[in-house]
Amino acid sequence: MSSTVLVTGGLGYIGSHTVVALIEAGHRPVIVDDLSNSSIAVLDAIASLTGTRPTFCQLDVADRGALTAVFDDENIDSVIHFAGLKAVGESVEHPLRYYVTNYGATLSLLSEMMAQGVHDLVFSSSATVYGVTETVPIDEDAPLGAINPYGATKLGIEGMLEDVASTGGWRIALLRYFNPVGAHPSGAIGEDPAGIPNNLMPYLMQVAVGRREQLMVFGDDYDTPDGTGIRDYIHVMDLAEGHLAALDHLREGCRAFNLGTGAGASVLDVLAAASLAVGEAIPYVIAPRRAGDAACVYADVTRARSELDFSATRTLEEMCVDHWRWQSLHPYGFAGPDTVESL
Ligand code: UFG
Repeated sequence: MSSTVLVTGGLGYIGSHTVVALIEAGHRPVIVDDLSNSSIAVLDAIASLTGTRPTFCQLDVADRGALTAVFDDENIDSVIHFAGLKAVGESVEHPLRYYVTNYGATLSLLSEMMAQGVHDLVFSSSATVYGVTETVPIDEDAPLGAINPYGATKLGIEGMLEDVASTGGWRIALLRYFNPVGAHPSGAIGEDPAGIPNNLMPYLMQVAVGRREQLMVFGDDYDTPDGTGIRDYIHVMDLAEGHLAALDHLREGCRAFNLGTGAGASVLDVLAAASLAVGEAIPYVIAPRRAGDAACVYADVTRARSELDFSATRTLEEMCVDHWRWQSLHPYGFAGPDTVESL
């Protein structure tokens, strides 16, 4: 059934792919985004990909007055809340910025939803809420704990949403993403990190495209088959479809779901698959472990499969091929070389 979905942070990496999936499924997304970590060019790309130019309002979700105007004008049925800061390292350096921004936006959004009688919400959470864990696969009942301010805001917001849902009438899904990678198969939208990428895939793709010299593999002495860290990489198109499934299966209360593939790949596995996609070896060196990294993290995806009827289907190869298509078509992202910070 078609509905109007407010998408906060809808021009960001995961938000933009979800907007495309929403349009293709016949929904009407209304995007709000302050463009602090995204580009207006994404809106044009979404329009040419889908043939539909979604309504877009440039605003900070924490600006309650601006949000009220959107709700008053757009007849919102449900909300997918992506907007927020997401860089682990930056959150350690500027914790207050993370608490103010991520809590501020969510408090404003929830207050407005309450006032407007809109009670259906899908929240962009993260597997970071599990802290550093030794037990895999990780199911949704695993112990929770934040190990940095970014994680603390995700965990804190999950708690906030549970409290709100316990008052009755709300239908909330908490989606705990594992490691989103890849891009729309057209290569028209993709991940466009500001500054030096923190994450493996964007970093190694920037090496492949010539923007950075070599990848540093953070540790090859973990207790894993090849000694490098194992993660559960999920194609961003699968992740986008997971949001649609969550929206379709919302039910009374607040429920958490892992979104991953349920399988792990090591850093060297990813390097090999990415090198194949790129067509040449991607240079790398072995470097010391990165503080706070676990050896092996992958999801138990049983709950999403049984309750949301959702399973990720795209392979590591497709993730690398699609990410590379985006990266090679946009070596410097949406901004171009002149405005992008270099090495
Ligand atoms: N890695 C490298 N070199 C790099 C970057 C990463 O070897 O330059 C390794 C890491 O050590 C790790 C793997 O690649 O073994 C994946 O690292 P990412 O930084 O891509 O992803 P993480 O699993 O560390 O982090 C992700 C999200 C975070 C989230 C965290 C926990 O990006 O937002 O999962 O859920 F907090």
